[in-house]
Amino acid sequence: MMIGRFRVWSLLGALLLGLPAWADEAPEADVAGVPAPAPRLGWIDEARVAASGDGSEWLLHGATWNEQRFSPLDQIHRRNVGELGLAWSQATGTSRGLEATPIVVDGVMFATTSWSRVLALDAATGEVLWRYDPKVPGWKARHACCDVVNRGVAVWKGRVFVGTIDGRLIALDAATGEPIWEVLTVDPERPYTITGAPRVVKGRIVIGNGGADLGVRGYVSAYEPEDGALVWRFYTVPASVEGPHEHPELELAARTWSPDSVFESGLGGTVWDSLAYDPELDLLYVGVGNSSIYDPQKRSPGGGDNLFLASILALRPDTGRLVWHYQTTPGEAWDYTATQHMILAELELGGKHRKVLMQAPKNGFFYVLDRATGELLKADKYVFVSWASHVDLATGRPAVRSEARWSQQMALVAPAVVGGHSWHPMSFSPRTGLVYVPAIELTYAFRPDPSYRYRRGRWNTAEDTPGLAAEVEGYEDMNLSPCSPTRLLAWDPVTGQERWSVPFSEAVSAGVLSTAGDLVFYGGADRFQAFDARTGVRLWADDVGTGIMAPAVTYRVAGEQYVAVLAGVGGSLGGHFVRLADRNEGRILAWKLGGKAAVPEPAPRPAGVVQAPRLELETHTVARGRELYHEYCHFCHGMGAKASGLYPDLRFSSRQTHDQWNDIVLGGIRSAQGMASFADVVDAADAAALHAYVVSRALHEPNLPQRLASWFARNACIPARWLAD
Ligand code: HEC
Repeated sequence: MMIGRFRVWSLLGALLLGLPAWADEAPEADVAGVPAPAPRLGWIDEARVAASGDGSEWLLHGATWNEQRFSPLDQIHRRNVGELGLAWSQATGTSRGLEATPIVVDGVMFATTSWSRVLALDAATGEVLWRYDPKVPGWKARHACCDVVNRGVAVWKGRVFVGTIDGRLIALDAATGEPIWEVLTVDPERPYTITGAPRVVKGRIVIGNGGADLGVRGYVSAYEPEDGALVWRFYTVPASVEGPHEHPELELAARTWSPDSVFESGLGGTVWDSLAYDPELDLLYVGVGNSSIYDPQKRSPGGGDNLFLASILALRPDTGRLVWHYQTTPGEAWDYTATQHMILAELELGGKHRKVLMQAPKNGFFYVLDRATGELLKADKYVFVSWASHVDLATGRPAVRSEARWSQQMALVAPAVVGGHSWHPMSFSPRTGLVYVPAIELTYAFRPDPSYRYRRGRWNTAEDTPGLAAEVEGYEDMNLSPCSPTRLLAWDPVTGQERWSVPFSEAVSAGVLSTAGDLVFYGGADRFQAFDARTGVRLWADDVGTGIMAPAVTYRVAGEQYVAVLAGVGGSLGGHFVRLADRNEGRILAWKLGGKAAVPEPAPRPAGVVQAPRLELETHTVARGRELYHEYCHFCHGMGAKASGLYPDLRFSSRQTHDQWNDIVLGGIRSAQGMASFADVVDAADAAALHAYVVSRALHEPNLPQRLASWFARNACIPARWLAD
């Protein structure tokens, strides 16, 4: 019998509630130092941020400018955390990845969900006050490397700012959710996306973008909050070697690129997530991403370090001029972004008091820099690292191992492209002096494509994914199943060593919150949990049915401390890694001491059957289909046509879907749901080959678990450190 595990896809329509005109009921805002007229909802400004030391509100993305994500609230602490109960939960009406950090001000929570949608809720009850949908076109999902996620809004002087997947920056009225202005921050002809949260620095909205895996030129921009006028823009990579350059820093950068660089690809260097600000030094810190075209020999033959890829930049927030830069991965070749969360703190290092910037970028080294000068103080491996033996503190440069170079032959490299740590925010507790890092231990196979050429708008890494897929067919899980793919790691930045860590057998990494109650809050596969910040002992957990990737926030309303988080997996893990047992029903959840709300029951994925038609499967057609599939489809539908459940597993599609194959793949009838037409890159013969491949995989499915089961019986899981040095 053709019975397999049916991981159904369900995209819930947005819940359209009839909402009251809420502005009239705005609670009396408790704002110090705001001039007349009467305080408006969400009136956050410098004075309010300065006066917010008690942590009762979560005013900025990283809690404070220094992005420590530490809360001074301690009503919930190590001894009473066991009394936490759910205060409320609210369905988001989404079934894709949720990554946002909510902003909480005036008793209202502002959060974003999939497709860059925004909602405002009562932070004490979870009641929805308004929703805003920027109506991103469904086809734009093809440009999002890692799901249609969004990491949150900025709230400033009564306005809510959100960046959208299609590259717009939008200002909303905080009281009503009505749009006030919108600007397009990107070239719409290019596969740019925005998933990061805007920050307000010196009264300007700062926003970057993503898209390097497909091919774009990275930059970060500052806009006026009043009308969206552009103030400055800093490009992270040059448009040519010879110029003219948009700004002087690009002359320095251009010297590190060869004249034969594929400038047409944009070269990458996207600023897709982290920013931090030091008001005393008046420096804005910018994390810069990976290359477009990962293989440096294809990207910039004979080139050098390729500045400012994979770098940390310190800019003047008023002008966007560069003060210093540090490149973590010169000549970047492994998707080693330096866009990971940056934390600003004060440390005693070598008998000296230092203002530092800390980052655990994808490349697996934990960096401590003097943030006034950019001087490298420490760089220690926080996960297993195979690409470099160490970083020379005198030169700041990594000692790259030749085995990690993959321009000529396949190489297994750790950390993987998802990084030793990805976008999931870490947290620094000044009480313990520890940084809590959501670490990932994965190894990745880079296989070069000798015939690679840049192709506009497509995935442009210069990898031979179809070749890899053909090699590992039937063993797709092989290099993706280490024993403990994720770890919550307590890192001592002074000694450069791990203090404690908690391993997890699931691949769902999550953001971190630490509090003055000496607790560390962390999500994971399907639960929300609290650990002792000093020892790593798990003190409390609640099973919530939906996986949690987002970082939690905490705040106080009417004297009660709440801890809130968004639940919903996806993101870069979307097409791979995770195997969902339940429907991925997006939710916002909040706990407090003695909370009595019921945790919503997760809906299991119904079991299903293979309904694929028994097509005549010719070997060469199937092979062609496999190639096309791993060129265009596997990012979402999974390697080997084996999906996570987040996107439909095509092996288990209904007969009706099989009958509509061409209407879906070429005709684009499901475009609004995020399944765009691929008619621009595949023709009818290709679509038939794709279908043949998927059907071949569906008909093989009943045997697959047995084959894999026997394989896994011998190799239960792969230690991430099997490449030991
Ligand atoms: C950017 C992500 C993405 C990519 C890439 C992608 N798809 Fe999809 N696909 C989706 C989503 C999302 C859905 C579900 C749409 C819906 O809810 O109706 C879907 C649905 C489908 C369906 C219907 C499945 C069912 O059981 O309902 C088919 C068939 C399909 N895709 C084929 C393909 C093929 C073939 C390719 C490669 C040429 C491809 N897709 C590439 C996101 C993607």
